[in-house]
Amino acid sequence: MNILILGNGGREHTFCWKLSQSPQQPTLFTAPGNAGTAALGTNLPISPADFEAVAEAVTKHQIDLIVVGPEAPLVAGIHDFIATHPTLSHIPVIGPKQQAAQLEGSKAYAKAFMERHNIPTAPYKQFTADTLSEGLAYLETIPAPYVLKADGLAAGKGVLIIYDVEEAKAALTDMLANKKFGAASEQVVIEGFLDGIELSCFLLTDGEGHVTFPFAKDYKRIGEGDTGLNTGGMGAVSPVPFNDAVFKQKIDERIIQPTLEGLKKDKIDFVGFVFIGLIRVGDDPFVIEYNVRMGDPETQVVLPRIENDMVELLAATAEKRLDKVSIQIRSEAAATVVGVSGGYPEAYEKGKEITGIPTDALIFHAGTTMHDGKLVTNGGRVLASTGFGTDVHDAIATAYSSLTNVAFEGLYFRKDLGFDL
Ligand code: AMP
Ligand code: GLY
Repeated sequence: MNILILGNGGREHTFCWKLSQSPQQPTLFTAPGNAGTAALGTNLPISPADFEAVAEAVTKHQIDLIVVGPEAPLVAGIHDFIATHPTLSHIPVIGPKQQAAQLEGSKAYAKAFMERHNIPTAPYKQFTADTLSEGLAYLETIPAPYVLKADGLAAGKGVLIIYDVEEAKAALTDMLANKKFGAASEQVVIEGFLDGIELSCFLLTDGEGHVTFPFAKDYKRIGEGDTGLNTGGMGAVSPVPFNDAVFKQKIDERIIQPTLEGLKKDKIDFVGFVFIGLIRVGDDPFVIEYNVRMGDPETQVVLPRIENDMVELLAATAEKRLDKVSIQIRSEAAATVVGVSGGYPEAYEKGKEITGIPTDALIFHAGTTMHDGKLVTNGGRVLASTGFGTDVHDAIATAYSSLTNVAFEGLYFRKDLGFDL
């Protein structure tokens, strides 16, 4: 079986690693991939945004299944493109079509979906440039902090949490009148602030059945103690210690089931990963956001805990037989620590040689490439070290110990993962 994975992060290397363990021995292609995916298959120098080039590669390499890693191509309609392609419409794509991808591509769409299906989330209102004055007046009526969300995709930067009302008004004006995030902030959602601890839920659905993957928790801020700028994710753990059986049951009844039912009621044939960003407020779960893909770096702890054959899981998804699949989860905990380039998430340099990667540990590549026979940095998040343990703290210790000899100029990683658990 020839499988094409779109993307180039740690998530995609983890997919390749998990798929490569299948007894079905798939042949893997990644576009564009990184040095980690190159070691497990063939990297294709193609941007996932270039649908025509993707289609050509699918034909040329006789691809049987496409897995879409990041959200952008899904929101741009890659699944629809393949499904309506004159010669490729029979090739399954794991990842939803454009309409369903709006769950991630538009905050307003996601909020309306949750409202329609009674899924617990923060109260909200939405505004455009035409209703800016109403938005400014609305901010005066609600308590701080103010949560402002650009409606569209803004590379993880579109959510602002502001404590001062005048600053919030200036930010709203910047987003709506000055299009701070371009087209993504033509519409802005203002929502109530939820005070709690976050966790992530991952489902794989074929539109009818689904499987629930292990829960995870990621660390988004660059600095220790959850301080500083937001990043793509500096680490993750699975399972989530505060996600006890009673709380899990609430998530299932109040969020997972209504979400899947809601998709069916809305006649949305969702094939792919549903990533639900949750927050525990007191004893109750609320949805912070939907994503239509796996998380990064959550994938680096979730997939290693799944015992099922990943090729079979994806084939079952494509063939709509997930209702007959039961998921087997490894009892050990997993943790991943992300090593980043100095300066990230702001400006950073590339091309720094990476040394000391242990051969007996699980190191997933993200921003890496081969240059003149050397492994060098090629992005902000460079690699992720995943470890196992009897509990998450033990797993975190293993993940750190695998990084002991890893070096490149400017390497930074958080040393406090698990501080809040
Ligand atoms: P999002 O892109 O919607 O996940 O938002 C990014 C981050 O902002 C989330 O992971 C939360 O940490 C935070 N956040 C978003 N919405 C809220 C909210 N209503 N209350 C508190 N924090 C929020
Ligand atoms: N780690 C959060 C995300 O993938 O969006």
